[in-house]
Order: sequence, then structure tokens, then C-alpha cells
Amino acid sequence: MKIVTIIGARPQFVKAAMVSKQIRKEIKEILIHTGQHYDINMSEIFFKELSIPTPDYNLNIGSGSHARQTGLMMIGIEDILLKESPDAVLIYGDTNSTLAGAISAGKLNIPIIHVEAGLRSFNMQMPEEQNRILSDHLSSFLFCSTDTGCTNLRNEGILNHVYNVGDVMCDAVLKYSQKAEIHNRKYYFSKLVSILQNEIQILDEWYLTTIHRAENTNKDMIKTILDALNELDAPVLFPVHPRIKQLILDSEAQSCYNNLVFIEPVGYSDMVYFTKNAKKVITDSGGLQKECYILNTPCITVRKQTEWVETLIGNHNILASPNKQDILSKVLDTEIDYLTHPSYYGNGDAAQRIVAIIKKELERNH
Ligand code: UD1
Repeated sequence: MKIVTIIGARPQFVKAAMVSKQIRKEIKEILIHTGQHYDINMSEIFFKELSIPTPDYNLNIGSGSHARQTGLMMIGIEDILLKESPDAVLIYGDTNSTLAGAISAGKLNIPIIHVEAGLRSFNMQMPEEQNRILSDHLSSFLFCSTDTGCTNLRNEGILNHVYNVGDVMCDAVLKYSQKAEIHNRKYYFSKLVSILQNEIQILDEWYLTTIHRAENTNKDMIKTILDALNELDAPVLFPVHPRIKQLILDSEAQSCYNNLVFIEPVGYSDMVYFTKNAKKVITDSGGLQKECYILNTPCITVRKQTEWVETLIGNHNILASPNKQDILSKVLDTEIDYLTHPSYYGNGDAAQRIVAIIKKELERNH
């Protein structure tokens, strides 16, 4: 039995780290890295730190428009699928690498396994929403992180082979948050690299922010968000996604942002440490909202909607408009119900459950 797994962007490395280890106990896995993320601190660092197997193929696609990136990936993936003829193709999440894998495998009638299926923002303008819906409708085995995911699929008429297994990112957070306690604050701060060549101080308390979504990364939107963060009551650590690094370096106002610490992207364990110990997190990332919930750190999401709707219960996660006053009031004034904190995302065994089901299903078809 053989599975081809396709990954390409940072959150997929974390997910694959958990699932690949389980797969390889029972099934032969061929790993394709599309090369969507290619900077050392967006890709290689995760492979090393999370002991992800070395990819058998790297397509080195790199940056480009959506169609160019997705199209080039499809051409490369198709060649490999024809050569390897796997029993199934495994895809994760909602990136362009996910969609390229789904279309390539779908047209060759190779069964598709989608991990993190059924996620919806109901905002079709997001590239991720388009990628999710198309990938789910091409998939044969759909693994949802929560009941909400299964319900979303049911509402779209996808009824067969849909499983709620918990969330593989939860597996990773639970594992690495224990490891994060091994080192002290000085250790984590000493590894940070400023993108402005400033010296990094060891902070007693901090907010943590990540902003990279297309809708938040134009010049005006970024300025509004940075203006708000600059007025918070503690320094804000900001690992800068390459998508917006140039915007920040070009910004004449960067020297005025004396409450913001602009740093290069950090590895997984470091991110878990800084998230777990932050006063609050301000983000537009999908995965980080969930990680905050699991680590019990309040999160403010600068978006109109979230896919992770469970996190909104009890104000563990709060949506803010990209407007200075709204961001400030949501960060500073919201009361959180810390006592209501169910384990929506499982208990850390999602990867194990996924592989057990895959094995059974593929054996049946073999
Ligand atoms: C992608 C995913 C998004 C996910 C995010 C995680 C899509 C449509 N979006 O967004 O869902 O949340 O990854 O980070 O697939 N770049 C570099 N070096 C890199 C990677 C990117 O410089 O290693 C720059 C390039 O200029 C590129 C831009 O970042 O044009 C955007 O990268 P891309 O991979 O297209 O999308 P992300 O914004 O990372």
C-alpha cells in the first residue's frame, strides 16, 4: 500500500509532522514538497525541528500568482503520480498546494484523503475558502477536526467517509507545549532576530501578533493594524511573514513603532513558547487561533469571520475589524470566561485515528 502526501506551506509541515510518523509505521509514504514556502525559516527549520522525513520530491515552485503557482504544481504532481501510482493521495488544509494535489489526483481517479476537511469561513473571496471547497468535493476520505466541519460537509451533500477525528495541530501543540517548558525565557529571547537589526530585549510580558492574510496586507490595512498595536500596554512581538516584510522595511513610520518588536519568523517550539506565555495574541492566522485556544491564551482575530467558530464561545477568541479603536477595545476590554474550556480539538490522538481509518479503508479497496 502506498500513499503520496503533498505539502508545501508552513502549517502543512506541522500537520504532516504528526501524521507522517504514524503513516510510516504501517504504510509506504512518498512525500512531495511543492516548494510554496521556501525560505529557511518558513520551511527547512520545520523539517529539522519536527523531524519530518526528507521529501522524496521537491517541486521548488516558489512564489507566483495563484494560477501560475497552482498550475505549475499540478504539472509537477501529475508526473509524480503517474510514476508512483499510489493507492491514495493525502492533502492538508487549504493552501494552493492542497488544491493542486486535489485536482491532479482527482483527474487521475486516485482517491484523495483530505485532513482538515469541512472548514468554512463562508467568504468565497478568500483563496483558502475556494481551495477548501474544491478539495473537499474531490476527496474520497474526509477527516474533520470538529463536529462543525462534518456539519458543513453534510450541508453541501458530502455524506460518505466523513470522520470527526480531532485536530492534528492539537496533537502537535499538546506534544510541543510540554517540551517548551524545558528552556527558560532567556533561551527563547536569545534566538530572536530583529528584521530591523535592533537589539532584542528580554521581556517580562508581551503580546504576540502575526498578520499575513491577503485582505490585511495592503499598505493602508497594515498601517491601521500597526498603529493599534503600537498603543497596547505591553510590547508586541511580531514574527513577520515574508509576504509583508518589504512593506514594513519600506514604511517610513517604522521608527515610530517603538512598542513593536519586528522579528524574523520563528520555529515551531519557539512559537508555542511565545504563544503560551503571551498576555494575548492578535492574529489573522487560522492555525494560531486554534493553538491559542488549546494553550488557553486569549486571541483577537483581525478578520470578519473565523472558521474556528468554537473558539468564540466564552470570548477565548474575539473578532476585531481592521480598525484602530476596535482592535484596541477588543484587546484591552474583553472579559474572558476561562472556566468554560472544552477540548473541542481532541486529546492529541487525531493522527493515530486518521491512520487507523486510512489503513482499514485502503485494505478494503485493495
Ligand atoms: C499561504 C496560504 C495560507 C497559509 C499561509 C501560511 C495559500 C493561498 N495561502 O499563504 O492559507 O495561511 O501560507 O503561511 O496557499 N514568501 C517568501 N518566502 C517563503 C514563502 C512566501 O518570500 O518562503 C512570500 C512570497 O513573496 C510570496 C508571498 O510570501 O509571494 C506569499 O506566499 P504564498 O505561499 O503564495 O502564500 P502565503 O501568504 O504564505
